[in-house]
Amino acid sequence: MAHQVEIELKTPEEIGQMRRAGLVVADALARMRAAVAPGVSTADLDAIAEETIRAAGAIPSFKGYHGYPASICSSVNDQVVHAIPSARQVLRAGDLISIDCGAELDGWHGDAAITVGVGDISNDLRRLVTVAEDAMWAGIAAAARGVRSGKGRLTDISFAIQSAVRKAGRYGIVDGYGGHGIGSAMHQDPFVENSGRPGKGPALRPGMALAIEPMITKGKPKVAELDDGWTVVTVDGSVAAHVEHTMAICDDGVWVLTAVDGGRARLGELVTARQQVSA
Ligand code: MF3
Ligand code: CO
Repeated sequence: MAHQVEIELKTPEEIGQMRRAGLVVADALARMRAAVAPGVSTADLDAIAEETIRAAGAIPSFKGYHGYPASICSSVNDQVVHAIPSARQVLRAGDLISIDCGAELDGWHGDAAITVGVGDISNDLRRLVTVAEDAMWAGIAAAARGVRSGKGRLTDISFAIQSAVRKAGRYGIVDGYGGHGIGSAMHQDPFVENSGRPGKGPALRPGMALAIEPMITKGKPKVAELDDGWTVVTVDGSVAAHVEHTMAICDDGVWVLTAVDGGRARLGELVTARQQVSA
């Protein structure tokens, strides 16, 4: 028999609390996006994240998580996820950086990631970012449709992500890493695969909150962890993109808690009408 996972269901008030944490993450990421430029180090970006999060009265979720030493993961080029910021890692024009950031506010977590080009990047890399973003939004939209129909299951999200990537062309979907439940802890059940058949796993229910985070490569999907025990890189050296949003499932759609507009621009009417907390 399949293992039954415990999924924390949030009240609307708790989702409102998560929105506040989500907006702190959104603000930190917006500041880092604006700061990305040739000559800037990944440690500089980490400092921006930590200052922004603490100034909001929140705590960087990543710092101290299983001993992780920083407030962001900053993964450049063939680094996929979980790369540790460093003053020695200086960005150069043409690089692609994925920045992952989490904040805890009054006990509730937000987690999101963006992928940004440094200076001018190639059309191929621009396209890679678009493919990852489109896949993430396809997954979020699948969750919204699923809760509205009452028939949605967890792997409908996985299937939507996979389908979007496959439709885009020859890209790798990194296996073994994926999205997750989130709420009173950063990582909760269920694990959200970025590929797989639809119609499996727990039913999508109002009160669930999930972080959706595809990791897409320009080459093969195979990855390896470096000796630092954190950094994940592509084995073939191809460049990777990683984007993430935290979303809450509501009865009439979803609320993208780490998007300033709640997801409205990308999802339209699939965004819940009841957004209690806007700031
Ligand atoms: N935010 C990452 C994730 O999306 C986790 C980062 S691991 C940490 O699941 F150790 F850096 F916190
Ligand atoms: Co995450």
